[in-house]
Amino acid sequence: MSDKIYPPSKEFVAGAHVDADRYEDLYAASINDPEAFWAEHGKRVDWMKPFTKVKNVDFTFGNVSIKWFEDGTLNVAANCIDRHLETRGDQTAIIWEPDEPGDAARHITYRELHENVCKMSNVLKNLGVKKGDRVVIYLPMIPEAAYAMLACARIGAIHSIVFAGFSPDALGARINGCDARLVITADSAPRGGRMTKLKDNVNQALLHDVNDVKCLVVQRSGDQIAWRSEGDYWLHEELEKVDSDCPPEEMNAEDPLFILYTSGSTGQPKGVVHTQGGYLVWAAMTHELTFDYHRGDVFWCTADVGWVTGHSYIVYGPLANGATTLMFEGVPTYPDAGRFWAVCEKHKVNQFYTAPTAIRALMGQGNDFVEKYDLSDIKVLGTVGEPINPEAWNWYNEVVGKGNCPIVDTFWQTETGGHLITPLPGAIATKPGSATKPFIGVQPVVLETESGKEITTTEASGVLALKDSWPGQMRTVWGDHDRFQATYFQQYKGYYFTGDGCRRDADGYYWITGRVDDVINVSGHRMGTAEVESALVAHSKVAEAAVVGYPHDIKGQGIYAYVTLMTGEEPSDELRKELEAWVRAEIGPIAKPDLIQWAPGLPKTRSGKIMRRILRKIAENDYGSLGDTSTLADPSVVDDLIENRRNR
Ligand code: WT7
Repeated sequence: MSDKIYPPSKEFVAGAHVDADRYEDLYAASINDPEAFWAEHGKRVDWMKPFTKVKNVDFTFGNVSIKWFEDGTLNVAANCIDRHLETRGDQTAIIWEPDEPGDAARHITYRELHENVCKMSNVLKNLGVKKGDRVVIYLPMIPEAAYAMLACARIGAIHSIVFAGFSPDALGARINGCDARLVITADSAPRGGRMTKLKDNVNQALLHDVNDVKCLVVQRSGDQIAWRSEGDYWLHEELEKVDSDCPPEEMNAEDPLFILYTSGSTGQPKGVVHTQGGYLVWAAMTHELTFDYHRGDVFWCTADVGWVTGHSYIVYGPLANGATTLMFEGVPTYPDAGRFWAVCEKHKVNQFYTAPTAIRALMGQGNDFVEKYDLSDIKVLGTVGEPINPEAWNWYNEVVGKGNCPIVDTFWQTETGGHLITPLPGAIATKPGSATKPFIGVQPVVLETESGKEITTTEASGVLALKDSWPGQMRTVWGDHDRFQATYFQQYKGYYFTGDGCRRDADGYYWITGRVDDVINVSGHRMGTAEVESALVAHSKVAEAAVVGYPHDIKGQGIYAYVTLMTGEEPSDELRKELEAWVRAEIGPIAKPDLIQWAPGLPKTRSGKIMRRILRKIAENDYGSLGDTSTLADPSVVDDLIENRRNR
């Protein structure tokens, strides 16, 4: 934690959409009279039928219901494309930077985007997709991913993107979870110079399909691919059969726009549901104000569209604002650790948004990779996904930003649709490691962890919750409203609970201290420890498994797995590798345990509950504070675990 404060420069403030006074005014207005405030700011999107009701929210457990602009109608794709055609039809909407730096980048204008999306919409219709149907998108970072999202939005279909790094099993579970009848994928795709066979994964995911799920395939690599006996279609062939006339469907503000699966502390991933109107207002407003986006700027968010960050800040927010958004197919270290900065120079990027894990990884490669590029077009730097350590913050600030670009550390979640706590760069002085102050309309509270009482003093420490709704909030868990309520509204009654710990300092700045539930944050990606455990115990040689996070220099948190083998099975390095490969195959590479420790026994209470607190401490190398172990059924297992702790 650092006490240093970094105010924005006078020049920056002078040109910013929001300065300190305006932030105070907007914030006060949004809290004092949310109805009036959002009646006005809801107009930032174009409505087909204007709303007359602004907000209708109940956070009461058992009765949770969240509605914004509920009688308005609109079309999200029309807001992201059609309404810009008259004023900026020839402006670039999407800059696409391919994996190979030698391959040509593409500039897609709003007019071209319109044509591509309308045609893709008609293809979807020809394949039988109707309003309300679910479409799974399993694509690499190519423009077709944005076309597919917007085509769904245009015809009122609900998309569910599955990150292309997920395994066939994980993909299959998500296809079934939302009962999708169409999957959009690519033949295979390069990333960091390596090919992923996406269509093969889809084939495997659909091996036992009983729903006749269709598959629409984008030709990206031209590689030979296996075709199923029926139900597979090339996009380029289907495009030849359609014209580019596709009127946007009139959607209700509260119709679902997309489902995005995310990990929780228990069970299988849940389908987070975002709806049309409130989500778009939130994505657009946060994009404009948090990044101080101005017309003509080139905005680059390095996330993948498989995560919410890509939804809100590559596609929906920027395009709703008529921005130029950059989409990058590759990885930060290919062909070398200068790639991000090469792309910034090449496309004259003005706002750059990435994750602390990437910053730490690049920081470790030395400053030369940054310094050989001209980064003078960058005005704002952003981070997201996990707390940023002051060392990485300072490097980002000095080496990348030359001490001249405000850093916005944006705290939010898949569930929140967009930023919740973040500096507005012209308004709020930053402190390295703090997400600073709430965005306009957001009412964070710090609750006492045990009692749930709201702490009213400025300085506070406990768990982070929200007192009231904001337009971008998720509305439900797909097909399971009870789970929605139980996850977010049960433990602390009357509040939305984030699952994060938090400290508020004497200046009212918020410092997120990390998850307080069984969710870990690996390279800015959320992972449920329960998911990794169930993958491990699905292996025939594993009797029991317990997974916790531990501090990892680059990833933030690494995955530490304690594994008890079936009687008769011998621990070995081969078996360790086998289990790693097994989890990769069950979930995906991001879930692969970093360390596996063989555990003859796990610390359990007499009632059989695994004491994760102890496992976390051992993984963290923090034996001094194991706490009371006397309630364990067999306290001696702890000594064995400590003795055989795996070194990092
Ligand atoms: C969790 C949400 C929001 C898109 C990326 C991750 C952690 C996120 C920050 C930040 C500290 C952060 C929280 C949160 N987190 N941003 N700026 N500072 N922690 O989305 O997968 O839904 O994960 O990421 O723990 O609850 P997600």
